[in-house]
Amino acid sequence: MTNTIYVLNGPNLNLLGMREPEIYGTDTLDDIAGMLEDRGRELGLDIDMRQSNHEGHLVDWLHEAQAEGAKAVLLNAGAYTHTSIALHDAIKSIRTPVIEVHLSDPETREPFRHISYVGMAAVDCVKGLGAQSYVVALEKAAAL
Ligand code: DQA
Repeated sequence: MTNTIYVLNGPNLNLLGMREPEIYGTDTLDDIAGMLEDRGRELGLDIDMRQSNHEGHLVDWLHEAQAEGAKAVLLNAGAYTHTSIALHDAIKSIRTPVIEVHLSDPETREPFRHISYVGMAAVDCVKGLGAQSYVVALEKAAAL
């Protein structure tokens, strides 16, 4: 196993910073990557941060995380969280632990966000802390 943490981000998260800042905050994905690099350095972890608007890319990257011996995956699947049985199955198909991450708390929002197919397969979840959700999830990954 390596010390690499895959941080996988799904649809629309490339627009973080300008996308509904009242819900998701003003930090961009690059800002979050910087925060994770800093904390990762302290924890002795390498960060491999990626984003795609395409479900299949996320499935491929979950498989890759296992093939490359990643220590863990932090996954903010965006709206695919609430729809994707393919992501659910991909998480269950690998032994690499996956931690679900959300900036907002989907359970306090619209009812269609209350179901999480990702959460049903992930080992843990950090949500509702804005960009800090990623940092807390990284700390949890370090302790796995
Ligand atoms: C999100 C919550 C999802 O419901 C939403 O579709 C997103 C972002 C979050 O980080 O709060 O795209 O995953």
